[in-house]
Amino acid sequence: MRHPWGVESTPEPDRVPLVRRDTRLDSYVDRYAARTHGMTASAIRALFAVANRPEVVSLAGGMPNIADLPLDVVGSALQDLVLGRGLQAMQYGSGQGEQEIREAICEVMSLEGISAHPDDVTVTVGSQQALDLVTRIFCDPGDVVLCEAPSYVGALGVFRSFQCDVAHVAMDSEGLVPEALREAVLALRAAGRSVKFVYTIPSFHNPAGVTQSLERRRAILAVAEETDLLVIEDNPYGLLGFDADPIPAIRSLSDDRVVYLGTFSKTFAPGFRIGWVLAPHAVREKLVLAQESATLCPPTFSQFAITAYLRQHDWQGQIKVFAEMYRERRDAMLAGLTAEMPAGVTWTVPAGGFYVWVTLPPGLDAQAMLPRAVTARVAYVPGTAFYADGFGSRHLRLSYCFPTPERILEGTRRLGEVLAYESELMSTFGTPLGAPHAAELPGHLAPGTDQR
Ligand SMILES: Cc1ncc(COP(=O)(O)O)c(C=O)c1O
Repeated sequence: MRHPWGVESTPEPDRVPLVRRDTRLDSYVDRYAARTHGMTASAIRALFAVANRPEVVSLAGGMPNIADLPLDVVGSALQDLVLGRGLQAMQYGSGQGEQEIREAICEVMSLEGISAHPDDVTVTVGSQQALDLVTRIFCDPGDVVLCEAPSYVGALGVFRSFQCDVAHVAMDSEGLVPEALREAVLALRAAGRSVKFVYTIPSFHNPAGVTQSLERRRAILAVAEETDLLVIEDNPYGLLGFDADPIPAIRSLSDDRVVYLGTFSKTFAPGFRIGWVLAPHAVREKLVLAQESATLCPPTFSQFAITAYLRQHDWQGQIKVFAEMYRERRDAMLAGLTAEMPAGVTWTVPAGGFYVWVTLPPGLDAQAMLPRAVTARVAYVPGTAFYADGFGSRHLRLSYCFPTPERILEGTRRLGEVLAYESELMSTFGTPLGAPHAAELPGHLAPGTDQR
């Protein structure tokens, strides 16, 4: 049935009909807070609706592949939880998070050399909320946050929503470049800007796929000490390495200079929405207050469920199973890229995590090319999504975490065809002029020694 101003769903006998209003006029447009002005829907969102069709190989999304989770173990842990402690698990809990999961989190972090006390851990709704809380307690509008170039799109969104200015700092094949960090802090301070922290993803970077060596971590920390800079270390992928033991976290090298963010989203399952912040004691006080005002308390049921899973299952063995599955997919992607990419295309070689960062030859534009790639039934995320300043058009992020190795090979084959066609167009009609290309500018990831 059609309504004059909307669409009415088919009425069912016992249900109130659901009416959707289709108008796009926003009568509140003049009333939104200034902080909402930076909250814009991505220009590529519409394309992703198409990219999610089954015929398209999506190398775009970063969804963890949890098909190997032992659902029987999780199911019986949940049943025990409901029957044994259901009333407690379904009640409000502590604003800081439950003691038992904070103890378990300390055990998880010890795998990366961190020695922490449960009192200094605050549980959050994924590490995404951790980013929100940390920014909330540290940043005023106009403050500067230093981020790698490129950086995690979800963090850029948080910084924008708190009206911070993002300054990108150069990376190389070992991640954030300490000297560039030092120069950026000094130059911004000399210009009178208030620099609140540097945000870094040291292991299996999203989107760059590179990892900071231990020496690099020490050097970054030394710059932070010298310039009195706070480090926000975001580490969702650190335990998902393919070859070696995890590299010690930056937080393991300093108790009071680093705020560390962790999550169970990649090592267990994202649907529980449990992450955490490990912060120096005084910062922790502020985080708990911010958490209480945001949520009252993080979800008690999820915290109990994760603690039960960690107690009843070989979770470290499970992480190895995940890592092995991701390694197989990484190998497929690297093999596909080697076989299919035209000359001049380079990419990073990740030693863990989900992502490969691709650099196109000068003149090609990954954002402009995306509709043509989707028409050729392959999707990726254009590099511009990972910069706050419009750069990145010569880059794209590919994720190998979700599709099967066969689909990844098919995806790289299709991408190779699209790129070959684009390169041919370019050599026939010349370089399409657009924004300056990130890789040609200082402060942006350029091919390093272990890249192709
Ligand atoms: C670098 C980084 N930080 C934070 C997150 C957020 O993860 P979650 O909120 O699921 O813990 C992600 C998710 O992809 C990520 O890649």
